Amino acid sequence: MPDYAVVFDGVSKRFGSVWALRGLDLRVRWGSIYGLLGPNGSGKSTAMRIMLGVVDPDEGRVVVGGVDVVEDPIRVRRMAGYVPETPHLYDYLTGLEYLDFIGEVYGVPPRVRRERVEEFLKAFELKGRENELIQGYSRGMRQKIALIAALLHRPRILILDEPLSGLDPKSARLVKDLLNRLKDEGVAIILSTHILEIADALCDEVAIMYGGRKIAEGRPGELREEAGMPGSTLEEVFLKLTGGEDLRSVIEALTK
Ligand SMILES: Nc1ncnc2c1ncn2[C@@H]1O[C@H](COP(=O)(O)OP(=O)(O)O)[C@@H](O)[C@H]1O
Ligand SMILES: [Mg+2]
Repeated sequence: MPDYAVVFDGVSKRFGSVWALRGLDLRVRWGSIYGLLGPNGSGKSTAMRIMLGVVDPDEGRVVVGGVDVVEDPIRVRRMAGYVPETPHLYDYLTGLEYLDFIGEVYGVPPRVRRERVEEFLKAFELKGRENELIQGYSRGMRQKIALIAALLHRPRILILDEPLSGLDPKSARLVKDLLNRLKDEGVAIILSTHILEIADALCDEVAIMYGGRKIAEGRPGELREEAGMPGSTLEEVFLKLTGGEDLRSVIEALTK
């Protein structure tokens, strides 16, 4: 197994005159939850699309599960599960039909796929709704179906763009518990969030993104200690570590 699940070396990406990412370096460990934390437009989704080979970087190198993403995006996608910010599901399929279809695409044998779908539907409290058309599902239900779809082939790397948005508190709890369980099984989880509290509660390591750059990185606990503020919130720590004033607007955007 390669040392790291995800490695970014000097990754930059430009859309027209906008640099979505500038010289991004990342190292994500197996069996950990890595958070990309930043306000809207800071480059989180672009970083995740680059991880999947959906978008190619203009500069730098990206290695996922030991595979260069630009060279072999298909192999990376087989290894990884991805839930985009706004998942596109098929409205005219039922939840069950959709999951069965995705399982087939990933080559999960029918019996295994049925078992896994059943297990997840129960865990996510979707049992009884699986034969309804996706069209009628709430945002939270769609979010959960997309997550189940991403997990059916048992990926070793899970990439989740704003995974808790649109979920009610109970579902958010279920997802958090699930992510912690997957992490304990050795899965590398990369998630993006614009909410400091989520990063603080869920992530082993956090990269703070701003304007396409990583402006701070570390374990929430370590960062607190380094700053000599053991009992404080991540917000206070980052204000101190990064000099405060000029970052206040970033922090405000993150806590909105
Ligand atoms: N496909 C695209 N075309 C043009 N600009 C894009 C595209 N994707 C992202 N951008 C721009 O790149 C920057 C970073 O966007 P994004 O990665 O979506 O940030 P985040 O997920 O942190 O909100 C933004 O300025 C955004 O407008
Ligand atoms: Mg985004």
